[in-house]
Amino acid sequence: MISTLNTEVEIDYRDEILKLKKGSNAVILAHYYQESEIQDLADFVGDSLELARRAKSTNADIIVFAGVHFMAETAKILSPHKPVLLPDLEAGCSLADSCPAPLFKAFREKHPDHVAITYINCTAAVKALSDIICTSSNAEKIINQIPKDQPILFAPDRNLGKYLIKKTGRDMLLWDGTCIVHETFSERKIIDLQTEYPDAKLIAHPECEDALLNRADYIGSTSKLLQFTKEDSSLSYIVATEVGIIHQMKKASPHKNFIPAPPEKNNCNCNECPYMKLNTLEKLYLCMKNGKPEITMDKEILLKALKPIERMLEMS
Ligand code: 13P
Ligand code: SF4
Repeated sequence: MISTLNTEVEIDYRDEILKLKKGSNAVILAHYYQESEIQDLADFVGDSLELARRAKSTNADIIVFAGVHFMAETAKILSPHKPVLLPDLEAGCSLADSCPAPLFKAFREKHPDHVAITYINCTAAVKALSDIICTSSNAEKIINQIPKDQPILFAPDRNLGKYLIKKTGRDMLLWDGTCIVHETFSERKIIDLQTEYPDAKLIAHPECEDALLNRADYIGSTSKLLQFTKEDSSLSYIVATEVGIIHQMKKASPHKNFIPAPPEKNNCNCNECPYMKLNTLEKLYLCMKNGKPEITMDKEILLKALKPIERMLEMS
């Protein structure tokens, strides 16, 4: 893509990014919800768990994270001596915002006998107050390893929590947070789509609401949804997660049809995560050129947050 940065200079961002990457021995890690042009030049595209593992194991000198803040922060916690760059520091997450650390601390203090299993979509300060971190890929496996008589509290995603209660049979205490993208999918409109495309399977991320998940043919993390569409024999899917993942689904199965799940409001971009989409090719180029914005963290919080992340990696 060739664009004009200012009136005089034309820049081929893709070319420049690849040159900067080579010159600085950087690795570009991207989440499936990034713009397709960012996914296409990344060294690795994955879900939250896979991206955390890559951030820990990379030999690169610099990690450039095309995702949201909590993901880049997790990368920094796992590779504390490497600069971690995020194209736009404002790329947050509504789930992380729904769980401020002081309120979570009070919640924990009210239930001192509960083990805190916390979804990775939270700030480092909340991770530092947690016992075990999980992602939507490994949450079930982790919960199943907790002794049956041990009470659990789960934060911050209420929908994922409810889904996990059903899957594991564990009666967990839930924090009341939701994702602004996944909660806007309209059950009513999905029923309309199912009528229009009777052969299409409904696949959904567990951050979606209960009513929608009850209708789904398959539920899983972004990676698991992608894997399902590669292995399943159907030719058509209604995809109830952020629309960016469809890029990889189409690449892997060009002969299949992927229908983005519709939000309640017509003509909105509500199935796009507004935080993820703050990262652009131009910002990616600028952050690699300037070596900033960089993730910086309080050392004490970093060390405290590392423990529950390491527990997650051991248990998954
Ligand atoms: P995954 O771990 O499934 O990629 O989910 C990340 C996320 O933010 C979903 O909204
Ligand atoms: Fe957060 Fe939802 Fe965006 Fe995922 S899609 S990063 S949970 S706001």
